[in-house]
Amino acid sequence: MSKTKIVIIGVGAVGATTAYTLLLRERANELVLIDANKSKAKGDAIDMNHGLPFLGRTKVWAGEYEDCRDANIIIITAGAAQKPGETRTDLLKRNAAIFESIMTEVLKYNQDGILLIASNPVDIMSYFSWRKSQWPIQRIIGSGTLLDSSRFRYLIGEELGIDPRSVHAHIIGEHGDSELPVWSLANIAGTRIPFDEETKERIFTNTRDAAYEIISAKGATYYAIALALDRICTAILHDEGAVLNVSTLLQDYHGVSNVYMGVPCVVDRSGVREVLQLEISESERDQLHRSAQKLKELIQSIET
Ligand code: NAD
Ligand code: LAC
Repeated sequence: MSKTKIVIIGVGAVGATTAYTLLLRERANELVLIDANKSKAKGDAIDMNHGLPFLGRTKVWAGEYEDCRDANIIIITAGAAQKPGETRTDLLKRNAAIFESIMTEVLKYNQDGILLIASNPVDIMSYFSWRKSQWPIQRIIGSGTLLDSSRFRYLIGEELGIDPRSVHAHIIGEHGDSELPVWSLANIAGTRIPFDEETKERIFTNTRDAAYEIISAKGATYYAIALALDRICTAILHDEGAVLNVSTLLQDYHGVSNVYMGVPCVVDRSGVREVLQLEISESERDQLHRSAQKLKELIQSIET
């Protein structure tokens, strides 16, 4: 196998946990950690290196932007995170400024890798990164609603005593407060999920508001997103053609265009190879439009 290099920019709670997850699963030969706080990146790299006798051959180091050269995947998890009570979109102005400087640096050294964005608001950060890079859409991927869909599947599985891997259910739209559950297509082995409206409402509310609950309990979310980012990297590196609810630029998706949002996409070594049109209901379509409208207004608010 040829050399695989992954760079992580932003080695805070999410970046460090993602690095550790990638390390444990031996996803890359080279793992580079970059952070404005160089001491934190250096400390994490040393700490992870000391675990290598128990693992494989990954080379981990605290790097500079030059290290983005020849990276297969560059994961961006840098920037401000929500404090208790803040929404993801409250981070918009701060993280847009941080992304402007990060993308300027990345683009000096890499023109053909895949960018995987997790910083919030993730759909808007992905859209900005695409606009700034001018790269093909398929190579700028946001983590989108992959994490939300995973929370949703977990909660449905818990309610029914079914392994969440056997639950097929999607959260689409913004990774945030306007996201929507696609109950019309949710199923287990093709059978409908037997919930009344009250149960559906409870499960979706707990899915949508999960980050608020976790952030108020311990300050940040990082384990599940790290696994979601690892899942996307694996689909890319192994050229899987896996269907994952990542954020991509939609073009006439049930009438929604020119906005990055989470929908089921086929992910392989080219990035987002294909966007799958779910056959959603009329009311789901309306919710999707509202979610897109919200994101577009937020984009306009900082472009004007
Ligand atoms: P954190 O504060 O622990 O880490 C952020 C890191 O970014 C810090 O180490 C900081 O030094 C670094 N940083 C800041 N500006 C930088 C710059 N210009 N260049 C390089 N590094 C810089 O935050 P966290 O909890 O790790 O969250 C990171 C981001 O991920 C937040 O925006 C958060 O909302 C988002 N997040 C997204 C998801 C998702 O599902 N997409 C899940 C969890 C968190
Ligand atoms: C999440 C982050 C905060 O855990 O976006 O959903």
